[in-house]
Amino acid sequence: MSRTARVSSIKEALLLPTIAVPVVVGEGGATLDEAIANSGIAIPSSLSSEWCRQQGLKRDVGSTVVLRSVTGPTIALISLGDDDQSTTNYRLVGASAVRAAGENSLAVLLPTEVMKDPAGVSQAIVEGALLASYNFKNHDTLSSVDVVPVGAPLPTVSVHDDVTRGVERGALVAEAVNWAKFLIDSPAGDMTPRNLASEIEERLGVDAHIEMEVWTESKIREERLGGLLGVGQGSAQPTRLVYATYDPEPGVSLPHVALVGKGVTFDSGGLSMKSPEGMMAMKTDMSGAAIVMAATSLASRLGLRVRISAIAPLTENTVGDKATKPGDVLTIRNGMTIEVLNTDAEGRLILADGLSLAAETSADAIIDVATLTGAQNVSLGDEVGALFASCDDLADQLLDASSRSGEALWRMPLVDGYESHFESDIADMKNMGKPPRAGSIIGALILRRFTAGKPWAHLDIAGPSRADGARGYTTKGATAFSVRTLVEYLSALAS
Ligand code: BES
Ligand code: MN
Ligand code: ZN
Repeated sequence: MSRTARVSSIKEALLLPTIAVPVVVGEGGATLDEAIANSGIAIPSSLSSEWCRQQGLKRDVGSTVVLRSVTGPTIALISLGDDDQSTTNYRLVGASAVRAAGENSLAVLLPTEVMKDPAGVSQAIVEGALLASYNFKNHDTLSSVDVVPVGAPLPTVSVHDDVTRGVERGALVAEAVNWAKFLIDSPAGDMTPRNLASEIEERLGVDAHIEMEVWTESKIREERLGGLLGVGQGSAQPTRLVYATYDPEPGVSLPHVALVGKGVTFDSGGLSMKSPEGMMAMKTDMSGAAIVMAATSLASRLGLRVRISAIAPLTENTVGDKATKPGDVLTIRNGMTIEVLNTDAEGRLILADGLSLAAETSADAIIDVATLTGAQNVSLGDEVGALFASCDDLADQLLDASSRSGEALWRMPLVDGYESHFESDIADMKNMGKPPRAGSIIGALILRRFTAGKPWAHLDIAGPSRADGARGYTTKGATAFSVRTLVEYLSALAS
């Protein structure tokens, strides 16, 4: 199935006030004007809010009334709530439109004449529609988008260009997020460290502006990544590290960001084993790796003028004869030692190495993304990610980006006093504090030790990395939460 989204200027006659946008759902082929004229549904020449309400349309953003005819296309009225300029609302409208369309093709009528930001709105609709149409089982049938200007002559060519640009951008963004969701939703038995590295290489390795290295175990040992090796040594699946560099204009000095993603392809907890219940969704524990690689790939496809060093340590955390035991001490890339008192606190061990590598680059800022702590889920739930940052500038830039992407972040404190919670008698630090106290803060404080004092931010997305049901444009299962925020942040840096 391919789905065609037609974004067009809307005729004055169909102009809605602020509460709804009309969406035509049909078999495709006919233009929207013909579609509406031939729909066999009595539509007044002007769709007032009152008429929409009479049809049963609610104010809640995305609520939908479907008007069906026997012969013609279906018309779906979709509410924009009170704000017809909010991109978040348009993302929700896109999601509702796609759900109303089901298996049919979809055309969206856009009131471009009254829109302040036609590019942003078009992007949001397409983004919402394609994100909502992600389906792991039918991945091959992912929707495609075509922009076909139809209806009344467009008011100005520039508006139409804006719409085309927005649609293209929305499609690129959603495709990258859906790629990451696919990697994350894949069973851990399939998406082993080796296979995940191959999937990433298949996408990023062929990009003209990206250089990719996949480190095998011998290289990882040579490079002294003791945290990553320590976590991986219990598993029969070999450990990998993906190092991707995006540099669109070599020789030119561009803003440079290092991205580090946690890539635990399955987290059993190791010898400090999780419960069966606690393990069920642990194929999700490589979200950070998929997210930073998707963001890097997307930055390149959007042609953003930034440099990115993207680092993803990939490993399983399982048990075996050689597994790291509670009480063992690991030596990280930067020379610091960590006493592993709980093998289930493995994310910080592999990120310690990843962050050490990032700190060796010339990056102006380092950002890591990780499903790091259950405590994050306890404190903020599954709709808000935790943001930790060593400096206010970086925090504010990420919060701005998050308000544009609609992926909510809440800044958490790096409480210096809690450093004492993970002092060790035999090493530079322990890998845990005093549970159940401030678990996500302890995790962040441990990571900070490996950032060499550079501007650094940490996104703990344990909660929002999965959705237990579809809501809005979020589908059930993997969310790849923060790809869009990272790319918003990078776009702002680039301009
Ligand atoms: N991957 C988990 C964190 C997690 C939990 C993510 C639930 C998503 C949902 C992480 O490796 C972990 O197990 N953390 C421990 C740390 C503790 C042992 C200090 C935790 O949060 O319980
Ligand atoms: Mn764990
Ligand atoms: Zn984990």
